[in-house]
Amino acid sequence: ICRIAVLASGRGSNLQAIVDAIAAGRLQAEIVGVFSDRPDATALERVAADRRWGHAPKEFSDRAAYEQALGDALAASAPDWIVCAGYMRILGADFVQRFNGRLVNIHPSLLPLHKGLHTHARALEAGDSEHGASVHLVVPELDAGAVLAQARVPVLAGDDAQTLAERVLAVEHPLLIATLELLCAGRLAEREGQPTFDGHPLFSPLAL
Ligand code: GAR
Repeated sequence: ICRIAVLASGRGSNLQAIVDAIAAGRLQAEIVGVFSDRPDATALERVAADRRWGHAPKEFSDRAAYEQALGDALAASAPDWIVCAGYMRILGADFVQRFNGRLVNIHPSLLPLHKGLHTHARALEAGDSEHGASVHLVVPELDAGAVLAQARVPVLAGDDAQTLAERVLAVEHPLLIATLELLCAGRLAEREGQPTFDGHPLFSPLAL
């Protein structure tokens, strides 16, 4: 069974989608831990207390010590895949290297468009006619790893950042579950930093 660890900073609706997909028997997986930089994150409450790790970076002497502790806790949970699902802190290169090839992130834009924050407002400002979400491999450079899968939504007249965010979030959940199904089944994989699908190099993101 596929061991999934989740990094989350806030609400955890993507985490809840994983919890629900496992409960429904759709995703053959187990959530081995939820890890947060915010001890009060709602996300932590979505799993049993013995699977929660919530510690603020300020509890540690510096960022390296924080990421060492986070990484040690994560490693102890022996995950096959580590999903950043609304984890709002940039991971350092040492951390990314430690879990290289097992880290994915869900980002609320059609990468390579709109890396970083405020993606919905920026899609509107840019006049984009469509927007969406991407699941990608994590590399040290922010939101720059190979994109595995994307889901698209239209930008509609009258949208504001909030309405657009809601439309994107509604496709994030099925996108993340479909991607995790493929990752857990070994159909979608990472070899030397490049994604493969059924053993073949994946040149463009799966449209899910
Ligand atoms: C999601 O929209 C996710 O794509 C985004 O934060 C939200 C978390 O929602 N992630 C990022 O912006 C990462 N840079 P959730 O806590 O309800 O899953």
